[in-house]
Amino acid sequence: MVTTDYLVIGSGIAGLTFAVKIAEQFPDRNVVIVTKASEDESNTKYAQGGVAVVLNKEEDSFKKHIKDTLIAGDGLCKEAVVEMVVKEGPGRLKELLLWGANFDLNDTGKFDLGKEGGHSEYRIVHHKDITGYEIERALLSRAHQLSNITLLPYHFAIDLITNHHLEREKPKSDACYGAYVLDQKTGQIFTIKANSTLLASGGIGCVYGHTTNPVIATGDGIAMAYRAKARIKDMEFVQFHPSALYEAKGESSFLISEAVRGFGAYLRNKKGYRFMPDYDERAELASRDIVSQSIDSELKKSGEPHVYLDCTHLDIDAFKNHFPNIYKKCLEHHIDIKIDWIPVIPASHYLCGGIKVNKKGKTTIDNLFACGECSRTGLHGANRLASNSLLEALVYAHNIFKHHSKNDYESLNINIPDWNDEGTVIPEEHILIQHNLKQLQALMRNYVGIVRSNKRLERAIKHLDLIYNEVEDLYKESKITTSLCELRNMVNVAHLIIQQSLDRTENKGGYFNIDNMKKIEETLL
Ligand code: FAD
Ligand code: SIN
Repeated sequence: MVTTDYLVIGSGIAGLTFAVKIAEQFPDRNVVIVTKASEDESNTKYAQGGVAVVLNKEEDSFKKHIKDTLIAGDGLCKEAVVEMVVKEGPGRLKELLLWGANFDLNDTGKFDLGKEGGHSEYRIVHHKDITGYEIERALLSRAHQLSNITLLPYHFAIDLITNHHLEREKPKSDACYGAYVLDQKTGQIFTIKANSTLLASGGIGCVYGHTTNPVIATGDGIAMAYRAKARIKDMEFVQFHPSALYEAKGESSFLISEAVRGFGAYLRNKKGYRFMPDYDERAELASRDIVSQSIDSELKKSGEPHVYLDCTHLDIDAFKNHFPNIYKKCLEHHIDIKIDWIPVIPASHYLCGGIKVNKKGKTTIDNLFACGECSRTGLHGANRLASNSLLEALVYAHNIFKHHSKNDYESLNINIPDWNDEGTVIPEEHILIQHNLKQLQALMRNYVGIVRSNKRLERAIKHLDLIYNEVEDLYKESKITTSLCELRNMVNVAHLIIQQSLDRTENKGGYFNIDNMKKIEETLL
């Protein structure tokens, strides 16, 4: 058993920011970070567009950023949260700079601000088109300088330890005491006992298969919190990014940043028609939910597999300077953006909901906090405004840090039983896990996508029940493997998405159900 003051699950922007802050403030306290792949693997690493922060006070204002966030969230954002996050932005960005992150400057030495869908002003701070890579680099480098941080890559958190694991002495309120963790290299499962646990385990893109997210995005933290009976909210609001590079085969899709549309690129259908102005006066720069739903509608009308992003009219040298990685990736796919349109298609990108937290980042379970994409703060409402995710993670990591620096914890004096895998065997048929995963992803894509209906959702829940039973049987009889746990977590997450979709009776932001639309039409008749 390992004992620590703070256990952090995940090494993206949320986990690392909290870890660095708390370790800097309390050199005598220990922080253990477990992360299931290499230390830098995360959604953070792939963030392109940047961080939305109000810096140019001549043109921009907090008021405008707040308004844009509220409009994108379609009436479901928590206004007090939006205001707090937006106003904290400049301060949190300054800390990132102090830790060594670099962002692009313009000719006058000021930040080169980009624009993305739903933003009324230029306010996106970025590092070329690899902003997340730069942030991850800077945070990891700072974390390595702090001797009270222990970073454990290739360590998979299996489950949170809560009252129900305790044999005796169960406290009255629900509380978290750490986690059971699998050392993926040795196969050993051990207990990490912690006074405070932070879930910073990221998103769920892989539940859909076709996603902009890397393979780590399997919703583990949300599933663990759900099994521990924490409140999970707004799971129906899965955000589909409008412009992932279309590849005939391929599950994980390379993102063509929204900032490319902010730079002036047009969306066209196969006939070359620029369709977005027909759907929204902001055209290509409407918020993401609207652009993705419009593309979906174009594709359904035409039967084509993708639409196009046209950059041919743009200043190519300036494009290459701002988006060198996207330019290179397109060339690798034999797309010369000077001449060719880029085939793009919406892909699952971000989860607006997650583990419900208060302004201090606390979940409904004592000693358990959540930050970043796995959390639901109320900032995004029904649809996240572009580049507000990195911002949210920075601000909430700070709030959680502030809470911990004000509140002292008594060391936990509790006996935690070891992980018990008696009677389990090494799974012989790994292929079954793969089969179930493919079934799950197909089900989510086909029935729980951009446009939903009650019939599809009900069918999805029925099919999911079968997969759930098969996976639970496998889980009970097998020795733990990462892929089995991830599959089990994805099944839990899929259940939450479908169930909370069925519970929603009104279309909002990224949630569109044709039966809700019919209800409105019937009322109007
Ligand atoms: P992540 O960065 O995903 O980190 C999660 C960590 O948890 C990882 O280290 C993972 O390995 C670990 N983990 C997960 N499960 C376990 C487990 N069971 N045990 C141990 N470790 C575990 N947002 C913006 O604001 N601006 C952008 O420009 C932007 N661009 C994006 C581009 C792409 C391609 C993608 C995919 C997302 C983008 N986003 C952007 C969204 C944003 O990057 C993410 O929402 C944000 O980085 C999430 O940070 P996080 O720390 O919460 O999670
Ligand atoms: C992008 O660069 O288009 C992604 C931005 C985001 O997800 O906020």
